[in-house]
Amino acid sequence: MRAALLHHDSHTPRLEEVAVEEPRFGEVLVRIAASGICGSDLHVVHNRSNVGKDRPVILGHEGAGVVEAVGPGVRDLKRGDHVVMAMFGPCGHCDQCNSGKLQFCDGPEFKSAVGRMADDSTRFSQDGRMVFPMVGVGSLAEYAVMREAMLVKVAPHLPLDRLCFCACSVTTGLGAVFNVARVTPGASVAVIGCGGVGLNVIQGSRIAGASRIIAIDTNRAKLDIASNMGATDLIQSGGDPAEVDAAVKALEPRGVDFAFEVVGNHALIRQAVGFTGRGGTTVMIGGVPWASDVSVNAGLLFGERKLMGCLGGGNIPGREIPRIVGLYERGMLKLDELVGKTFDFNDIGEAIAEADRAQTAKTVVAIDRALL
Ligand SMILES: NC(=O)c1ccc[n+]([C@@H]2O[C@H](COP(=O)([O-])OP(=O)(O)OC[C@H]3O[C@@H](n4cnc5c(N)ncnc54)[C@H](O)[C@@H]3O)[C@@H](O)[C@H]2O)c1
Ligand SMILES: [Zn+2]
Ligand SMILES: [Zn+2]
Repeated sequence: MRAALLHHDSHTPRLEEVAVEEPRFGEVLVRIAASGICGSDLHVVHNRSNVGKDRPVILGHEGAGVVEAVGPGVRDLKRGDHVVMAMFGPCGHCDQCNSGKLQFCDGPEFKSAVGRMADDSTRFSQDGRMVFPMVGVGSLAEYAVMREAMLVKVAPHLPLDRLCFCACSVTTGLGAVFNVARVTPGASVAVIGCGGVGLNVIQGSRIAGASRIIAIDTNRAKLDIASNMGATDLIQSGGDPAEVDAAVKALEPRGVDFAFEVVGNHALIRQAVGFTGRGGTTVMIGGVPWASDVSVNAGLLFGERKLMGCLGGGNIPGREIPRIVGLYERGMLKLDELVGKTFDFNDIGEAIAEADRAQTAKTVVAIDRALL
């Protein structure tokens, strides 16, 4: 099959031939229809990421497709089923899963986060050398082999070129609001960074009933989309943090109830905490290096402000994807409006460049137009 591969020291994915193994016990071979490109893919491309370190890596983690074949022991999926390729799939039998905290599963299956199966193997190779799918997905490819637990079946009439980016951007944005921050009706919210994820924090906050949603971005075009997603107030950041602080304070003098950092910048995380009032909650979504330190003003913490991180928005795929589909089908969640340009798989280089320019919300790659 062809896959968008990144080797050590390469900053441009190239389409290359990769050998795919048959699915083993509990695994599924998926023919990929479409993939979104997320800010985290760009971090891998530019070597800023903690994931995708083992190379060559198959880029992409926002996929949807059709089941091509199932391995022995697969219970609930069969050839022809449409699936969203989730970034994660709880094992169902570790202590965390047994205590109901499936989003914190720490069974050996969680090695998918570093592109491996539980036994450290992968199902992909090139010239006899292992190839690693990004976060166990590798959706910028013609096929994927994944554990059944990472796949969520969806109805065949749903558009796979919209559902693909529900696997990360929508799940993370909505989950950060619903599962992590737990935004309450009437609350005030500030969101720094209105890209694919931040825009979904904004529409999640609208759905949760927030009464004021302040969108902050350096890019005017993103603020226009933010307004369409439900932002009530728009602040275009010109690079001076004091100006942004003053603009937020003018809107909410006592501070907001919830702040979200969705860029991946230490100074902005610190600033987000400063936006919140006493008892407020800040969620750090943006990807900063895991070994780096985040600093906040100590005085603010005495006011019982909380700073939390999140991975995928407290993601339990079997819960999030059906909820997202339900909201979309009832017109409460906007997916079509998030799509900027859709590229053919052959134009993967241009697709990455477009996502890098960050002028639109989501860049989508149509891997197999016959499935769309
Ligand atoms: N924690 C998680 O589970 C998780 C999941 C997905 C993505 N992420 C991370 O979230 C971040 C956003 O991802 P995305 O796909 O939305 O990226 P994106 O590139 O689509 O969006 C980033 C946005 O931030 C804006 N921005 C840049 N600098 C800014 C500044 N100084 N002030 C205000 N806005 C600024 C850009 O204009 C753009 O609109 C990335 O760092 C990504 O790695 C984390
Ligand atoms: Zn588990
Ligand atoms: Zn992502």
